[in-house]
Amino acid sequence: MKIKNNNLYIENCNTVDLAKKYGTPLYVISENTILKKIQEIKKEFLDKYYNTRAAYAGKAFLTLFMCKLIEREGLSLDVVSGGELYTAIKADFPGERIEFNGNNKSIEEIEMALDYNVGKFIVDNIYELDLLLELSKSKNKTINILFRITPGVNSQTHKYITTGSKDSKFGIPLQDDIIFPAVKKAIDSKWINFEGFHYHVGSQLHDNTSHLKALYISMNLIKNVKDKFNYQVKELNIGGGFGIRYTDKDITKPISYFVDPIMSKIEGFCVKEKINIPSVVIEPGRFIVGEAGIQLYTVGSIKKIPGIKTYVSVDGGMTDNIRPGLYNADYKCLLANRAKEDKINKFTISGKCCESTDILIEEAKLPNPKTGDILAIFSTGAYGYSMANNYNKLQIPAVVVVRDDYSKVIVKRQTYEDIIRREVLI
Ligand code: LLP
Repeated sequence: MKIKNNNLYIENCNTVDLAKKYGTPLYVISENTILKKIQEIKKEFLDKYYNTRAAYAGKAFLTLFMCKLIEREGLSLDVVSGGELYTAIKADFPGERIEFNGNNKSIEEIEMALDYNVGKFIVDNIYELDLLLELSKSKNKTINILFRITPGVNSQTHKYITTGSKDSKFGIPLQDDIIFPAVKKAIDSKWINFEGFHYHVGSQLHDNTSHLKALYISMNLIKNVKDKFNYQVKELNIGGGFGIRYTDKDITKPISYFVDPIMSKIEGFCVKEKINIPSVVIEPGRFIVGEAGIQLYTVGSIKKIPGIKTYVSVDGGMTDNIRPGLYNADYKCLLANRAKEDKINKFTISGKCCESTDILIEEAKLPNPKTGDILAIFSTGAYGYSMANNYNKLQIPAVVVVRDDYSKVIVKRQTYEDIIRREVLI
C-alpha cells in the first residue's frame, strides 16, 4: 500500500481508478501480498521442517482463482462444505490435496468427496465416523482420516471465534470412553486408514499459548494410542488461527512464532517417548489472505448530530463485511482520493442496511469526508467476501485481483437479476 499524488495505491494500481473502473463497493485483493504470505509459510515452515504441509482454509476466501493460486503454490486445501468442494472441483484442484473438515457433513457431501477421492476426511464426531465407514464400504474405497479433537483449551480471542474449549460444537471430546473406542474402530476398519489427530483452537490469535496447550494434550493422546493399540500416529494437524494486523492495536507475530516452538516440542516429546515424529500440518486461512484485501466504498449521506457524532454512510455495509456487526471487529480506513490530507476528526462509518448495528467503523480518524469520496478499509481479504450476504437485497460486490499495475475481475458483481434468479412466482 502506498500513496501517490494524494491517492492510495494497492500494488501499482490507483484505488481511485479501480473504484471508477469497476464501481463500488468493491473487494480488491493483492496477489503479491498473498504470495508473500505463502512465501513466509514456505520459508519458515515447509522448507525449514521435514514432513510438513500447509492446507489453506478456504472458508477465509474461496473462488476459482484462489483455488488455482493455491494449487500452483503447492499447498493443500481445506474445505468444509459441498459448495467449497464444488468450487475446488470446478477449478480442477487435485483431490488428493483436499482435506474435508466440518461438524455436520451430509451424506451427499461425503459421497461427493468420496467420488472426487479427497485426500483426507477430518472426522468431527462419532456419528460421522459411522457414516464414513458405511459410505466408504458401499463405494469400495479406503479413505484417510484424522479425528478432530476438542482439546479443552480457551483462547484469547472473541468468544464467537474460539473453537477449542470443552463446550464446543466442534471435535470429539477427550474422554477415554469416547475417543479410544473411536480410534480402535478406525484402526480395525479395512475402509479406513487412520492417520492421526486435528485440532483448531481459535482464530485471530496473537498468542501461541493455546496452540501449545493443545499440542501438549495431543502429544499425550498420540502416546496413549501407541501404548494402547501399538499404533504409530502419522499426522498431527494443528489448525489455523494465526492472527493478522487489522489496526495498530494488533501486535502481529510471524508464523515462526507459532510453528517453531511447536516443532521443537514435538521433536522433544517424540524422542523422549520413543514414538515416530508425525507429519505436521497447519491450516491457515486469514494469515494468507487477510492483509491482501481492501474494500472500496463511495461516501454517500453524511449526518452530523451536533455534540454527538457524525455518521458517514457508504454504499455497502454489513452485507459485504459482517465482521464488525458480528464480532465487534475493528478496522482501519483512509479516504483513498485524499490519502495525504490531515485526519482532523473522528467519524462513524455506517453501512446502508436497515439495522443500527450496521456500523463498519465506530471511530475513524479522517479529513472531513465529502459525498463522492472513496473510502478504503484495510485488511478485509479474509471472511469478508466469504461471509457476504444479500440482506436488504443488496448486491454482493465484485472482487478484483491486482498484480503490479494489472487488475482483473475474478468475481463479477451480482446483478439484481442474480438476486431473484432462484425465486419462483406461483
Ligand atoms: N481450520 C479450521 C478447522 C477452522 O475452523 C478454521 C477457522 C481455520 C482452519 C482457519 O482459521 P484462520 O487461520 O482463518 O483463523 N468468521 C470468523 C473466523 C471463523 C474461523 C472459523 N474457523 C472471522 O471473521 O473472524
